[in-house]
Amino acid sequence: MCVVIVRLWSEVQLTASRSQNVLTLSQSHSNCESMTSKRNDRPDAVVWEITRRCNLTCPHCYTAATTKDFPEMTTRECMDIIDVLSTMGTTLIGWTGGEPLLRNDLEDLMDYAREKGKIRSGITTNGVLLDEERAKSLTQAGLDSLQISLDGTTPEKNYRLRRASDEEFRKVIEAIRICASLDVKLHVAMVLGKENLADGWEMLKLAHREGVGVVRFCGFVPTGRGKHKQVIERLQFSSDSLAVQQFVYEAMQLPSPKVSFDPAWGPLPPDYCFHTCQAGVGTFYLNCFGDVYPCTSLLDKRFVVGNIKERSLEDIWNDPKMTEIATLPREQIHGRCNGCRHFQNCLGGCRGITFAHTGDLFASLPLCLKL
Ligand SMILES: C[S@@+](CC[C@H](N)C(=O)[O-])C[C@H]1O[C@@H](n2cnc3c(N)ncnc32)[C@H](O)[C@@H]1O
Ligand code: SF4
Ligand code: SF4
Repeated sequence: MCVVIVRLWSEVQLTASRSQNVLTLSQSHSNCESMTSKRNDRPDAVVWEITRRCNLTCPHCYTAATTKDFPEMTTRECMDIIDVLSTMGTTLIGWTGGEPLLRNDLEDLMDYAREKGKIRSGITTNGVLLDEERAKSLTQAGLDSLQISLDGTTPEKNYRLRRASDEEFRKVIEAIRICASLDVKLHVAMVLGKENLADGWEMLKLAHREGVGVVRFCGFVPTGRGKHKQVIERLQFSSDSLAVQQFVYEAMQLPSPKVSFDPAWGPLPPDYCFHTCQAGVGTFYLNCFGDVYPCTSLLDKRFVVGNIKERSLEDIWNDPKMTEIATLPREQIHGRCNGCRHFQNCLGGCRGITFAHTGDLFASLPLCLKL
């Protein structure tokens, strides 16, 4: 789920993270723009969990990826989906997982998307398998943007969040180094929570040293394995954390690297603007089982609009359930948002993130930085 202060759709970027996802919405520092969600006639950017298999088992993983096998679509089935996306007018696929680089046909799919559908590709990866040869083949297949996830600046710190070995840490640093010299938009993404807040500054230094232009901080979301009590205790900020506010304020002033905060952080100071909700309006999320969700921030089963094995993608895209969250009557939000002077700038922030924390679509965003 990182990357306006109005989180403008024009700033949707591939970082294949949560949006958790390759596709990420960011916050920058512009003035607020219109908050009205206008339905696109096409899903511009699609985030696709191409596999749920993973070579790591991060305790906080929102998709609960593991080293075990999961049902997966074949290359042919994926190409058929690309054909449909092309007809629907999609211009960007954010390949994510699990670990997308575990799919040996990823380059074939990216190449097919580019050649057949004029669709660009972005990838979110943990970087462990991204050696020089793989980076080259992905670039040749048309890689446009890349997000490499790293949750700690030393093997020990990274292990606490990612359960990655020293060798895997070394490989990720090498992957960052290799990719920083390529002609692709590169982000390094870091999940930042209570336990590792101080390491955020170290990550900015590391990125600067390695020539990375953007660091995207992902706010922890209690979804998937992240729902476990111990994980929440380690990573969830308390609602009155001055240290968090100070970090965000100061990091945003940095000239380089650029810093972005994903929607899980909520509306940001100084004006608390927030992007227009694009769930099912200009994007959707497709998981490895064929389930379609309006957005990567809405991963509870109740938000599934349909499954592509049972209904056509066009039919699912045109289902009224697709835009239910983007058109939610925000004036019904209760609690502290109600009456907050910034409400017209943020409309209460991301409803998916709020739901993940509270189970209530009409609750106020519990961890809003507006103290
Ligand atoms: C699910 S991973 C998939 C791609 C790849 N395996 C990786 O780690 O980058 C996508 C991104 O979501 C982040 N993420 C996973 N679980 C999260 C959670 N509970 N809250 C916030 N971000 C999370 C990961 O750290 C990663 O940056
Ligand atoms: S966050 Fe990425 S690397 Fe970690 S378990 Fe989930 S899919 Fe794998
Ligand atoms: S408290 Fe609610 S209305 Fe106020 S800035 Fe935060 S999310 Fe927006």
